[in-house]
Amino acid sequence: MMNYGCKGLNVVISGGTSGIGLATAEKFLADGANVFILGRSFLRGTMAVQKLQVLTGSKVFYVPCDVTNKEDCQKALAGIGGMIDVLVNAAGVYQEQRLENMTEEDFSNIFDTNVKGTLLLTQAALPYMYGGGSIVNIASDAGISGNYGCPVYCASKGAIVALTKALALDYAPNIRVNCVCPADVDTPLLRKQLEDSNGGYTLDDMADAYPLGRIGRAEEIAHVICSVASPMNSFMTGAVIPVDGGLTAK
Ligand SMILES: NC(=O)c1ccc[n+]([C@@H]2O[C@H](COP(=O)([O-])OP(=O)(O)OC[C@H]3O[C@@H](n4cnc5c(N)ncnc54)[C@H](OP(=O)(O)O)[C@@H]3O)[C@@H](O)[C@H]2O)c1
Repeated sequence: MMNYGCKGLNVVISGGTSGIGLATAEKFLADGANVFILGRSFLRGTMAVQKLQVLTGSKVFYVPCDVTNKEDCQKALAGIGGMIDVLVNAAGVYQEQRLENMTEEDFSNIFDTNVKGTLLLTQAALPYMYGGGSIVNIASDAGISGNYGCPVYCASKGAIVALTKALALDYAPNIRVNCVCPADVDTPLLRKQLEDSNGGYTLDDMADAYPLGRIGRAEEIAHVICSVASPMNSFMTGAVIPVDGGLTAK
């Protein structure tokens, strides 16, 4: 088992009820952290808590929160009742769509969750992090290089890369801010992407694009998130870290 040095730390994970966020919660719990997972769906939240408790035998808390809503973010973090040592901004949505088909509603849906949501939750967390801490934002390979058929998603993740660097400057030396950029990872988000493509492409088609010959697993991204957040990783801030099977090395 890995030791990330997070025993007893308070860790907040938006999008901690599914996919990459859920896998990250599992690793932090195994490390002995107090973990608070945020998401909108009560059902998804309580199911995630049950799963995590069975897997790790540790106490984990579901906190309802829509990150697009400022009051929700403030209420959620006030409810934790203590300082926050680690914030992972993993809540996100994906939509495949060429620009000619985009509506303003589509734009708002992606930007409100991926960009405004990250800003609002981070803003709400700051008063609880002045003692020091670590923020890990989840962007994407799509924030580093262009991807086909999803310009708005790419723009939202590019914004997270820029935001990470700007916040790293503003909040040094107390708070480290870094950004992890996964490529395709097998999560409910990716399964929906495949469904929405109506057979346009398959998991095997996706895998063909990767130097490592496959897409990622949520726990592989979670391991990097925990390592980046770890207090042992004390000299890294403003970094943008691809975890993508070599995709952006091409
Ligand atoms: N999977 C990939 O291939 C991939 C690749 C690159 C980057 N990423 C990024 O990695 C992050 C996690 O993705 P994933 O694949 O793990 O997705 P996922 O399995 O669909 O999980 C998304 C999580 O975000 C939460 N969420 C969505 N909108 C929210 C909102 N408005 N307020 C609060 N929580 C919200 C969801 O819970 P509720 O719906 O209950 O709110 C869920 O817990 C995202 O930022 C995504 O863009 C994923």
